[in-house]
Amino acid sequence: MLAWYDRHARKLPWRIPPNQSKSGVRPDPYRVWLSEIMLQQTQVATVRDYYEKFLANWPSVGELAAADSEDVMKAWAGLGYYSRARNLKKCAGEVAANLGGRFPQTAGELRQLPGIGDYTAAAIAAIAFGEPVAVVDGNVERIITRRYRIATPLPAAKAEIRAVLAPLVPSERAGDFAQAMMDLGATLCSPRKPACSLCPVSQDCQAFRAGDAELFPRKAPKTEKPTRKGAVFVIRNRHDAVWLIKRPDSGLLGGMSALPGTDWTARQDGLTGEKSLPFEGAWQRAGSVRHTFTHFHLQLEVWEIQADTKPPFEGWWSAKGVLEAEALPTVMKKAIAAALPDAFRKQPS
Ligand code: ADE
Repeated sequence: MLAWYDRHARKLPWRIPPNQSKSGVRPDPYRVWLSEIMLQQTQVATVRDYYEKFLANWPSVGELAAADSEDVMKAWAGLGYYSRARNLKKCAGEVAANLGGRFPQTAGELRQLPGIGDYTAAAIAAIAFGEPVAVVDGNVERIITRRYRIATPLPAAKAEIRAVLAPLVPSERAGDFAQAMMDLGATLCSPRKPACSLCPVSQDCQAFRAGDAELFPRKAPKTEKPTRKGAVFVIRNRHDAVWLIKRPDSGLLGGMSALPGTDWTARQDGLTGEKSLPFEGAWQRAGSVRHTFTHFHLQLEVWEIQADTKPPFEGWWSAKGVLEAEALPTVMKKAIAAALPDAFRKQPS
């Protein structure tokens, strides 16, 4: 794996390339932590730009700890899973205030910090500090269940996977080994049509030998996601500013900006029609938008009105041109764009 990584490692902005890491160069733990939090639920291609923006705004954990939370949420907007951003800020605060600005060096200690679970703790400990721990993400699960032809379905197979992987982790270059596995899973050992002919370990791979690599990992059947419904209100004034609210700090999209709207309900008779409107006026339907969260699909009916009096929700007018920089989750941007197609077009400068 390490020899393959030396030749084929992806070039990633948070990564020390193998020719340097081999001679003992270690990455900045802050950068490793930041990238791993972003990569928890999000693909490398999406993370790149956000990672660069965060690093430019807050080059160190001390600067992120001192940042305004609103600015952090704004910079995170669009990346999804917003509890990550709230925990990022909390974790930076703890590291700066209680640990002298230095991240702990073992997975066990890292695990105690906000937003750092088993996977992330292991990844940071291995990559930033060289601790020889097993780092198990979805890519690694795929490689190991194929290599050992583990037929137990996920998630039950996790313990078996960890037990098989742990003794394989080298005492030197544990971080490169973890990243080699990630890269193999992201490039050759793909979910469908794996490129086994290019794989450095295909000769040892039991599923390759049996000709059924694509059948692994087995997965417990997924339960279907329910659909919830709601309505949102695009209230704009005569200058085309839009009334926004801030969602409560806890819960889904917590602490993010949003359109005012109804609760989201799984009831099929969910009130999203005229009866849901918060005040009288010349409301117009502006279509509906769909968005998928981890546990449900959401369908939002979008209602639009021009109103110059202050709406009956705690909030603020967000002027045209400023909207782009608000901490708006993607689903809210979609709803605003349904009513105001030009809202997020770049203004000619
Ligand atoms: N996915 C999660 N962490 C990663 C890393 N360090 N390199 C590449 N892909 C990753």
